[in-house]
Amino acid sequence: MFVLCFAFCAATAQSPQTKPLPTQPAGTDAIMVGTAWYPEQWPESRWEEDLRLMEAAHVTVVRIAEFAWSRMEPSEGHYDFDWLARAINQAAKHHIVSVLGTPTAAPPAWLTQKYPDTLRVEENGQRVTHGNRAHGSSTSPRYREFCRKIAEQMAIRFGHDPNVVGWQIDNEYGYALMSFDDTTRKMFQDWLQAKYKTLDNLNAHWTTAYWSQTYDNWSEIPIPVGGHNPGLMLEWKRFVTYVWHDYQQNQIDVIRRHAEPRQFITGNFMGFFDGFDHYPMTEPLMFASWDDYVGSGHVDPDFNGLSHDLTRGFKRENFWVIETQPGAVNWHSVNNFLNRGEVRAMAWQAIGHGADEVGYWQWRSALNGQEQYHGTLVGADGTPVPLYAEISQLGHEFSKVESSFRGTSPVSQVALLNSYDSRWAIEFQKHTKEYDTIGLLKSYYRNLSKLAQSVDVVDPYSPLHNYKLVVAPSLNLIPEGLATHLLEYVRNGGHLVLGPRSGMKDQFNALTRQRQPGYLVDALGGRVEQFYALEKNFPVSGAWGTGEAKIWAEQMGTSAPDVQVLLKYGKSNGWLDDQPAAITRTYGKGRITYIGAVLDDKLTAAAAEWMIKDSGVTAALGPVPDGVYVCPRSGAGKQIYVVINFASESKHITLPRVMRFLLADKQGDVLDLPTYGVEVVTVNGDTR
Ligand code: GLA
Repeated sequence: MFVLCFAFCAATAQSPQTKPLPTQPAGTDAIMVGTAWYPEQWPESRWEEDLRLMEAAHVTVVRIAEFAWSRMEPSEGHYDFDWLARAINQAAKHHIVSVLGTPTAAPPAWLTQKYPDTLRVEENGQRVTHGNRAHGSSTSPRYREFCRKIAEQMAIRFGHDPNVVGWQIDNEYGYALMSFDDTTRKMFQDWLQAKYKTLDNLNAHWTTAYWSQTYDNWSEIPIPVGGHNPGLMLEWKRFVTYVWHDYQQNQIDVIRRHAEPRQFITGNFMGFFDGFDHYPMTEPLMFASWDDYVGSGHVDPDFNGLSHDLTRGFKRENFWVIETQPGAVNWHSVNNFLNRGEVRAMAWQAIGHGADEVGYWQWRSALNGQEQYHGTLVGADGTPVPLYAEISQLGHEFSKVESSFRGTSPVSQVALLNSYDSRWAIEFQKHTKEYDTIGLLKSYYRNLSKLAQSVDVVDPYSPLHNYKLVVAPSLNLIPEGLATHLLEYVRNGGHLVLGPRSGMKDQFNALTRQRQPGYLVDALGGRVEQFYALEKNFPVSGAWGTGEAKIWAEQMGTSAPDVQVLLKYGKSNGWLDDQPAAITRTYGKGRITYIGAVLDDKLTAAAAEWMIKDSGVTAALGPVPDGVYVCPRSGAGKQIYVVINFASESKHITLPRVMRFLLADKQGDVLDLPTYGVEVVTVNGDTR
């Protein structure tokens, strides 16, 4: 076992992980290139050539069947899986395993025509017509029953298939679209009743005395369309989460009943999409997957890194990028192609952040259908497109170094807190259209990850004791229980940093009876006296230098003598002049800091630097030039770093010692990477 650990890696290398990762199924490579393959769209005589080309590119996994319902159940109750079994077997002959998607994002025409109640009703009361996807109603009991049956039949047939490694439930969960019909409304009312028990309780928490909203009967409660009571609106979002969770569970239950435990169950999520709360949604899955599309323009390595870390944080577990773009998509305003080398760099970044599969959507375009222009690996003529060579290079690289990644995951000393409740609450009442919760998260992420080189993004209720630093840029809802959890972290030595708008609301989206940060005021020894949406930037200065507050500023007040003022506003609107903008205080064995303004880039960077130093966070590999990204993974006694140059010029990187370069098969203490250049480095030794 590799036991040597140097100062620069000591902080991230934790005790060897022995448990196999669910993202690395037994018998497969630890990291894999995959593709979405639609054998149902092609004559069987073509399959062999497709699979031969996949094997040649070292594509080792296909996701199949997620849109093949009409082929698998051509008429009600008549199932045909023989073709699918042949496709799976034939793929296996080319050393390709299969992941089966349940086809419930696209019910067949015979079903929706015979049972129109299985189709969604839109907000305007119109039932959707057949021919697109995500048209099924997630709340229709009849639709649920059809979904359960097809998933069950698939699991009976393939639950023991040695070449099926796992399952994907549905496809992107109907984008969380709801059916605005009476069934859904009644479900919502029943769900509220089960939660609140009495109308008095609900009326009190939502303060329905306001604008005569008081409910005397559960049946009076509407589905919120447009602006509504913030309590009602937040509960609707939670109800949507419950509906899709239940919709998913309906399929998980039958698959689990028939499938071998070694077959994983995942779902494909969409980064920062917030149609539902992803923490409960991913809870019953073995791991989360996501669909990583750039859309227009080029990869933003910070945002993409953040999105990977968000997905990893759903279950605090490695994940799959089950779909990503082979060059271009077809659904953005300008569907430009990624640059040569960019697709490969993106894939390695995914691996560095804890992905164990990168799957290209899709292998080959259907000759007709809505996505004819989308990027592929093979053209309409069935021969490789230019990008195929880059994917092939990637496939061979993965195969060369995969064993070094077995049992490894990113390990971080810093966590960013992400809360859907808080994000929704702010979105409902932005107060300034400029307020951007994801933008703020990203600005902290960019600066913190540059210094720490690995950051977790987790639910506020997650265990926090392993982190030296926890930053919550917009934790608007801090109910009492969460405050207790956060304070326990601080009391035991952690450093909690809160951003603007923190601790304003309780779990019902009601204002707390204290000023911000609510239940944390006493520990902080200070509070927000008044918040201000800004029409222009105001000067701020202090321990982190001078700069500007933008978009949002809070006037802080201090009540404890040991509170340190870190930043003050300069001449502003009169109210803020010379008032504290950021304060900090030691509490228990730790520290709590409140930054009451959205800071400009320079000050955010300085604030991040202060937090990192104060909390004793160390970089995984030491400083690297701007534009170079270091992604550490450790476990099973290994410590590896994926190093990528996303800058537009070549970079010269001095390493802290002689290291082994796994891709170039050499060793050295300097690394020269061209734009989109990638290397996987490890301390000298056998990591395999
Ligand atoms: C989504 C879907 C795929 C495909 C791609 C195209 O992620 O899951 O079926 O439509 O987008 O980019």
